[in-house]
Amino acid sequence: MDRIRIVGGKRLNGTIPISGAKNATLPLMIASLLTPERLTLENVPSLADVVLLGRILGNHGVDLTVQGKRANGPGANGGNGVANGHAGANNHGFPGRIFHLQAEEIVDTTAPYDMVSRMRASFWVLGPLLARMGEARVSLPGGCAIGTRPVDLHLMGLEKLGAEISIDEGYVVARAPKGLSGNRVVFEKVSVGATHNVMMAATLAKGETVIENAAREPEIVNVAECLRAMGAVISGEGTAAIRIQGVDTLRGARHRVLPDRIETGTYAMAVAMTGGEVHLEGAEPALLQAALDVLVEAGVSITPKNDGITVARNGHALRSVNVSTAPFPGFPTDLQAQLMTLMTRADGTSTIRETIFENRFMHVQELARLGAEIKLDGDTATISGNAHLKGAQVMATDLRASVSLVIAGLAAEGETTVNRVYHLDRGFERLEQKLSACGAEIERLTG
Ligand code: UD1
Repeated sequence: MDRIRIVGGKRLNGTIPISGAKNATLPLMIASLLTPERLTLENVPSLADVVLLGRILGNHGVDLTVQGKRANGPGANGGNGVANGHAGANNHGFPGRIFHLQAEEIVDTTAPYDMVSRMRASFWVLGPLLARMGEARVSLPGGCAIGTRPVDLHLMGLEKLGAEISIDEGYVVARAPKGLSGNRVVFEKVSVGATHNVMMAATLAKGETVIENAAREPEIVNVAECLRAMGAVISGEGTAAIRIQGVDTLRGARHRVLPDRIETGTYAMAVAMTGGEVHLEGAEPALLQAALDVLVEAGVSITPKNDGITVARNGHALRSVNVSTAPFPGFPTDLQAQLMTLMTRADGTSTIRETIFENRFMHVQELARLGAEIKLDGDTATISGNAHLKGAQVMATDLRASVSLVIAGLAAEGETTVNRVYHLDRGFERLEQKLSACGAEIERLTG
């Protein structure tokens, strides 16, 4: 299994191109199930999750082709085992790819356990399959390293649209032989996935659906824009109430994946950790204002530019902060582990409260191996600052935790090896190449 080896202590200086957002790409690919016509997505990142979802959708009958030629830049051959096929190199050798997805016919409405269990977001095929075919059989995703993560809100939402749902041998069996009907769907808790699932299903339901307490994440907005380009009638995305007027059919469209705000925030924290100055090319500040505000509070210089964000820390000490994760526009849970790493080097004691997922603190034990002092009490972590981090062997069981260990390794004295790189490849495109281009001593060890 691949590992990442880092020799810490180098400042980061240069430019890092920001890729298309994983969390938008996945539901956008799934949206291709809603129409027999071709959906073209631009700025698709090369990630293991994207490849896996391509396979899952292929099972349902989606024909996926990747347009364009291999880029010539230094990062052209990404070491993450993900097939390349880039279009036009305009982005330091890391151009997003163009995907064409076409589900002329749905050949299978079952999403099997061995696939859904490997990637939770593939459960979101349920709504679109049901809306288009009147039936779907999708495996329950099962447990997950960051908590129980139930799907009750997804099922409640689809039931409100008239689906009959039962659970059979670990599968959700959903039927709507006469089609779905619009309704008022009120989520008791904000869920990104349930909002995607119900919003996509409602595009083909009869009549109007209103989703209340909807997720407001930028990826929801990006998907709503794509659905609108496909002929859906949607308004209110980005607010807590999304209105969808059902239509009979959707058509093909061309749509661009928005920049990855989590990747942006991760590299911003890496620069804050090591010191130096890096331009995050293509990043959009409005997508992660809460996280940028926290970095400014910590003493990091953030300068929005017309083609990205420049992040710098030159000589200033880091100040401690107290932060709670929250649904958008709050501080994202997907940047919690990275911020915790950063706060191990702050001048003072910080607290971070995790309100979205229980049990999302697996990185704490691994950070301790590098010398961090973090105390856990329920949903709150208290982080002692000014830790002397020293390189060690570490491993993590989820994507964001893994990258927090990479950030720690960049600032630790000596050599850190991050094992189970598979998790990083799920969500970070060519991480080691982007960082080494800015002066980090980081390499992938294969095998
Ligand atoms: C998405 C993101 C993930 C991010 C998370 C929260 C993708 C592919 N993944 O995950 O990176 O960390 O949003 O911003 O976009 N819940 C229920 N019942 C449900 C569904 C969710 O109780 O039916 C709970 C979850 O356990 C969790 C909370 O709601 O406590 C939020 O989860 P949700 O927003 O659904 O996360 P995902 O969509 O899975």
